[in-house]
Amino acid sequence: MSDTAKPVLSFSLDGKDLPFTPGETILQAATRAGRYIPHLCWHPDFVAHGSCRLCSVKLNGRLVSACTQLASAGLEVESDTDEINAQRKTLLQMLFVEGNHFCPSCEKSGHCLLQATAYQIGMEGPHFEEFYPDRPVDASHPDILLDLNRCILCELCVRASRELDGKNVFAIGGHGIASHLLVNSVSGRLADTDMSLQDRAATICPVGVILPKRRGFAVPIGQRRFDLQPLAQHAPEDGS
Ligand code: SF4
Ligand code: FES
Repeated sequence: MSDTAKPVLSFSLDGKDLPFTPGETILQAATRAGRYIPHLCWHPDFVAHGSCRLCSVKLNGRLVSACTQLASAGLEVESDTDEINAQRKTLLQMLFVEGNHFCPSCEKSGHCLLQATAYQIGMEGPHFEEFYPDRPVDASHPDILLDLNRCILCELCVRASRELDGKNVFAIGGHGIASHLLVNSVSGRLADTDMSLQDRAATICPVGVILPKRRGFAVPIGQRRFDLQPLAQHAPEDGS
């Protein structure tokens, strides 16, 4: 090694060495190395939000969010354990019953991060009683459908619209179980915003809320992203 060569920094994830560069979070380092840690509200194009808690990993015996916790040399991180995956399964089950997720009739099926994560974690049913909340569908926009039944409040559309599109089309309103996605127009209708199909917010939704119209079945069921390859083998999200 030359005098100027930098040492390779690494930490341990599930007993295997994982190199990282200073400033990277545990999730960023894992994703770059092709190591899967479940997550829903994190996306590589945005600063971590830390709200879904699905990426929780164990560090020195306590749970931390892998999307917000910076990596540092010598950490011993546990992620793929029965205990942590059981907690993730419970979180997923709660997300499913809080909304209305009828996967067989959803055009995002096979492209949906929530559905793919549930398969990955081995969730076989909702376990809890369904809430069946009354949520609207907004078909007012000529090019984009909004089906709020499926919203998991990850705020990716809020961040995409604000940070990349410069528009602020979406916001989260309410508290606790009453939290919901808001459309920023006087009428509350998407048609009365300046949102367009070219916006990043139009394609960022990891579930089937924000859907470009007339494209739903361009890729047949059975040939979609997560139909072809399990989630854990995928590259970082592309928002599809
Ligand atoms: Fe997340 Fe989609 Fe809900 Fe926006 S509409 S908060 S992207 S789930
Ligand atoms: Fe880390 Fe959601 S992905 S909290």
